[in-house]
Amino acid sequence: MGPKMLLLLSLLGVFEVMLAVGLRHGRSMPGSPYNISRIDPSLQQVVLNATYSFNHKSNDAFLYKPSTIHKAQRQVVKGIRYIVDFEISRTVCRKRDSDINNLSNCDFQPEGRLHQTFQCHLEVWVIPWNKKSTTQVFVCKP
Ligand SMILES: *[C@@H]1O[C@H](CO)[C@@H](O)[C@H](O)[C@H]1NC(C)=O
Ligand SMILES: *[C@@H]1O[C@H](CO)[C@@H](O)[C@H](O)[C@H]1NC(C)=O
Ligand SMILES: *[C@@H]1O[C@H](CO)[C@@H](O)[C@H](O)[C@H]1NC(C)=O
Repeated sequence: MGPKMLLLLSLLGVFEVMLAVGLRHGRSMPGSPYNISRIDPSLQQVVLNATYSFNHKSNDAFLYKPSTIHKAQRQVVKGIRYIVDFEISRTVCRKRDSDINNLSNCDFQPEGRLHQTFQCHLEVWVIPWNKKSTTQVFVCKP
């Protein structure tokens, strides 16, 4: 056996061990979705982007902003898929008077008549190497 073959065999061995350890610790198989941190910067970017698209389409007089992320998963499939359950809430910024692409000065509405929250489910597929991204599912319900 040449050194190349040996290297290949040992790489396979390492992979099998990692897989076995992963399974024993109840982790998911490669390619299946796994939980990620809610403060992951790429995740936050994806959620913010979806929120901007919600604001562009909505008939609401006010802009919405992400308020909670309930569940965030990433899946590696020819790029990266994000699967996110989150909430957006109405802010005090009027769509008419605000920069729709900048929510940084928009506080949430206080509890009361104008307080409103939507539950959203988002699935986005990002292909980093050609900077493309496809929104596969994006639904928000009161
Ligand atoms: C992933 O996160 C969800 C929501 O927080 C939680 O219910 C679930 O138990 C987590 N799964 C794993 C494998 O940690
Ligand atoms: C958003 O607005 C804030 C405050 O007005 C400003 O500091 C910030 O640079 C703006 N961000 C963008 C991306 O325009
Ligand atoms: C941002 O949202 C738009 C509209 O939904 C979508 O076409 C685009 O792919 C998204 N970009 C990212 C980086 O998520």
